Amino acid sequence: MDIPSGQTGNVHIDIRIIKSGAQYAYDLMDEYGNVVLEAYTEFSDGLKKRLLADSITHLYYNPAMKKSKEEALKRRRESVVSDSLRKGVLENSRDLLDFIRENYNFSLESKLTKSRIDKSRSLVSSLLEEIEDRKDGVFDPLVKLKSLDEYDYVHSTNVSILGALLASKLEFSREIRAAMGLGGLFHDIGKSSIAKDILNKAKLNDAEFDIVKEHPHVGYKYIENNLHILELEKRIVLLHHERADGNGYPFGFDYDHMAQKTPREVRLMSLCDIYSALVSERPYGRVHTSMEALRMMINLVYAPFKQTYFFFPGDFRDFIRALGMTLNAGNFFLQPGDLVRLDSGEVAIIEEMNRLYPLNPKIRVITNKEKQPLKRQVPVDMLQNYSSYIANVFQKKENGA
Ligand SMILES: [Fe+2]
Ligand SMILES: [Fe+2]
Repeated sequence: MDIPSGQTGNVHIDIRIIKSGAQYAYDLMDEYGNVVLEAYTEFSDGLKKRLLADSITHLYYNPAMKKSKEEALKRRRESVVSDSLRKGVLENSRDLLDFIRENYNFSLESKLTKSRIDKSRSLVSSLLEEIEDRKDGVFDPLVKLKSLDEYDYVHSTNVSILGALLASKLEFSREIRAAMGLGGLFHDIGKSSIAKDILNKAKLNDAEFDIVKEHPHVGYKYIENNLHILELEKRIVLLHHERADGNGYPFGFDYDHMAQKTPREVRLMSLCDIYSALVSERPYGRVHTSMEALRMMINLVYAPFKQTYFFFPGDFRDFIRALGMTLNAGNFFLQPGDLVRLDSGEVAIIEEMNRLYPLNPKIRVITNKEKQPLKRQVPVDMLQNYSSYIANVFQKKENGA
């Protein structure tokens, strides 16, 4: 549908007159400029109901921002990074990790020269430029491997792109964006000290696992005194396996130590690392779809009722708000009908997702904190209490139960 324009600035449209199924050549925004409905997306009765329930009667569009259908569809499909650049980053990861493997020695003296590091830096700055231009695109991680030996090259490429993308979406400074991109490329360099037959094994014994657990520290020692690598980049190498429940390595920081000693940027890189691992082919564990991976990650967010948890809620919220839609091809990773558990311990059913705050949808609470069914179920809009969040999603069984 074409909306008559001819005015400058934003024009409003009364949603009560919009018919279900209507499509517009403009992004429709709320009064704060948040896009509520992208151009050429169908307006639904559900959306109308929700907006009216929130006392929103008007949406806005900018007549100067008319989009062609082809443009809108292309924008939706376009990837945040071109294939050619991604290939360049992958080749560079291979070069870098192979070089370290060949030149690794136990004196731990870094042979990474400035020119070698600069090559990675210039690729990361190309990444950041492309990402800036293609922010609305989707991110498809590399997931297929030619052989298991490829895993670390592919994984480092994904983590680098994800780190740069996340930093960019969160509007971090240019310097931090670059550091997160490079940190992603370098984060597992310590694995280059580990024999490939251990890295490629599906099941490790305790002794082998102890060797693998050394990789953050070994990697850090390798670059510790390298003047061409930034402090934040070194921290990413050293601390990307620390976990909020104290079960990470090499230090096993508890919740408070983790908060004090692991910078937020490093914790965000851990989220990128885990996401990349879940969606890729690897020696251990199967490939997960983006949706599965994101839902598994929700279950690793801290909540008072949990024993095992990896992430701070605030970090996960940042990650998911910035990347949730981008990783899941523009779709929600939670859906109405999903059974979830809140940080309070109460169990609820999702009624309606919130595009901007995916961990705070509209829900119906069905049990108390002890999981005992309520006599009367309570509808709640989780946005009313932003400090609460979804901390678990129950997986559906094949029979739908
Ligand atoms: Fe690692
Ligand atoms: Fe990793």
